[in-house]
Amino acid sequence: MESGKRVLLIISGGIAAYKSLELIRDLRRREIAVRCILTKAGSQFVTPLSLGALTEDKVYQDLFSLTDESEMGHIELSRDADLVVVAPATANIMAKMRTGIADDLATTALLATDKPVMIAPAMNVRMWESAATQENLAILQERGVQVIGPEEGDMACNEYGMGRMSEPASIAEAIAGFFSDAGHSQQKSLIGKKAIVTSGPTHEAIDPVRYLANHSSGRQGHAIAKALAELGADTVLVSGPTRLPDPVGVTVKHVLSAEDMLAACEAALPADIVVCAAAVADWRVANPPSEKIKKNGSMPSLELVENPDILANVSQLAKNRPALVIGFAAETEDVVAYAQAKLSKKGCDWIVANDVSPETGTFGGKNNTVHVIEADTIEDWPTLSKEDVGQKLAIRIATYLENNPT
Ligand code: C5P
Repeated sequence: MESGKRVLLIISGGIAAYKSLELIRDLRRREIAVRCILTKAGSQFVTPLSLGALTEDKVYQDLFSLTDESEMGHIELSRDADLVVVAPATANIMAKMRTGIADDLATTALLATDKPVMIAPAMNVRMWESAATQENLAILQERGVQVIGPEEGDMACNEYGMGRMSEPASIAEAIAGFFSDAGHSQQKSLIGKKAIVTSGPTHEAIDPVRYLANHSSGRQGHAIAKALAELGADTVLVSGPTRLPDPVGVTVKHVLSAEDMLAACEAALPADIVVCAAAVADWRVANPPSEKIKKNGSMPSLELVENPDILANVSQLAKNRPALVIGFAAETEDVVAYAQAKLSKKGCDWIVANDVSPETGTFGGKNNTVHVIEADTIEDWPTLSKEDVGQKLAIRIATYLENNPT
């Protein structure tokens, strides 16, 4: 393999194991060599024959196999690669990783490795949301294990929710990101930095029971906050009303209106990084009445006033301005041109621009196709899951801060 990069791919037992075949093909297209460990449960879903054919290598399965051990002992196997990837990572293997149980070749290699570890969890939504798995996840992350996904969607067990393994392309992208110079040195590189992220819509009261709002799901902002925290940043997420769970390892301030959001951001300042991903309502109702407006035959008229612009406020702080202020530009036409204008108008450092035309399915959807715009550069990113956009952006932020120390 030309890149010289080697991944040890551990395939544990879940229905998502079939996706590991596509993952191997994708990695090999990127000239990354793959060697597999297949657990006993994993072999119920994929065969050593197909893995061997795709990796063009031996597939390791047995801790006590004399042939395996004489070819390559399990310690050497665990250290020979540059990166260990567990995909799919079941709740069971995550629990064993957390406690250090080593009762087969896969878990022994995981315990013995001195290489970075990445996991792509895949399990039923309730198993994912269980206190045990969430605690295991938090501890693994604290130890520096990089977590890709999972994502929300239909499950093999006919339920819906978080727990689907990320798509092979997203996992391959994260692995390639790790191997890029930036990714390699970015493990936990935001330790000591403070980040504030805004996310979700705002609700602007019309009266005590009605409000103005928009379709933002908050998924992108939440994913960014999670990714920054994973790189070690002390992260405050200021979130408008969403249906999302609070991300692990992040301090979440729940707010309703744009004015509340600005106040929560101001209370959380100073910070090194501010990312404004919220879809803040541009207007609010002037003087909403304290009683519900009654239907009395005539149409009420709503006087609207402009909301404070949080991004512009933070970008233009005279004192203690954060080192990096990032805004979003959701547009339905001339995405890049509008975003460039927004960059200079608001005074932020980067704009992440995306096309939110209804046909793209971006609003409320899983994926995002973004352009990262700076004063004199435009970087076009491929379509990625919102989680992957969050991770890629967090790595870009860490690289920037490392290259531009304050
Ligand atoms: O002006 P526009 O709403 O298109 O700008 C979008 C960017 O500005 C986003 O980053 C959004 O979070 C931020 N914004 C804000 N406060 C507002 C309006 C937008 O922080 N009142």
